[in-house]
Amino acid sequence: MPVSIKSPEEIAKMRIAGRLAAEVLEMIEPYVQPGISTLELDTICHDYMVDVQKAIPACLNYRGFPKTICASVNHVICHGIPSANKILKNSDIVNLDITVIKDGYYGDTSKMFCLDKAPEHAQRLSKVAQECLYKAIAIVKPGARLGDIGHIIQVHAEGNHYSVVREYCGHGIGTEFHEDPQVLHYGKPGTGLVLEEGMTFTIEPMVNAGKQHTKLKKDGWTVETRDGRLSAQWEHTLCVTSDGVEVLTTRNEESLPF
Ligand code: MF3
Ligand code: CO
Ligand code: CO
Repeated sequence: MPVSIKSPEEIAKMRIAGRLAAEVLEMIEPYVQPGISTLELDTICHDYMVDVQKAIPACLNYRGFPKTICASVNHVICHGIPSANKILKNSDIVNLDITVIKDGYYGDTSKMFCLDKAPEHAQRLSKVAQECLYKAIAIVKPGARLGDIGHIIQVHAEGNHYSVVREYCGHGIGTEFHEDPQVLHYGKPGTGLVLEEGMTFTIEPMVNAGKQHTKLKKDGWTVETRDGRLSAQWEHTLCVTSDGVEVLTTRNEESLPF
């Protein structure tokens, strides 16, 4: 499918969906504590989306995914399935990935939560992954290319002796969850799709402490690092404006744009 250009009216709807997704992350933060299960976090997010936001949980039943949020703890890279058996420890790091549908449009965002006693090296991995996202967002504007985005992420991750996951990527987003283009988190500058005003997509780098390789668990969803080392991911939904970028999933704790 060609890459769609959204009208100002469509972007206004995506702004609302994006804000709702961000608000779920803001809402859930105080609950992300040692002793809670990822299933409890899922239930809280589900009920908030449905009862308070009157939004549709996009992941629930998406291609058979059984829950509302993805909760990816420590060496889980992405698509962790919330479970009553997965109880957070004070040393854990966890990514919560939230996608809502409102008025037919999708908003998709994720962040890392580092629990109180998360080791220094884990916090550093999370911080560098977030910097990768922010550096990529900062270069988005008409005329920039997807290869520029991938490259800046790859350079920052590898410059910190981490690796970038290859098998999963960012994506166009709008009235569908995963639209074209694919937004790779590695690449060569000056290559790939030229960005235009009205394009909407996610950037969601997955950065591994060890090697880039992934392993899909038998549940068909959970993606882990093959070497068992930690992984971190941050995600925003954004749109290309006439002279730069608008982040549609900004949280109040963030100071965007840069
Ligand atoms: N939110 C994820 C993304 O960033 C996709 C999750 S699909 C699911 O694209 F089925 F695992 F929920
Ligand atoms: Co996404
Ligand atoms: Co997501």
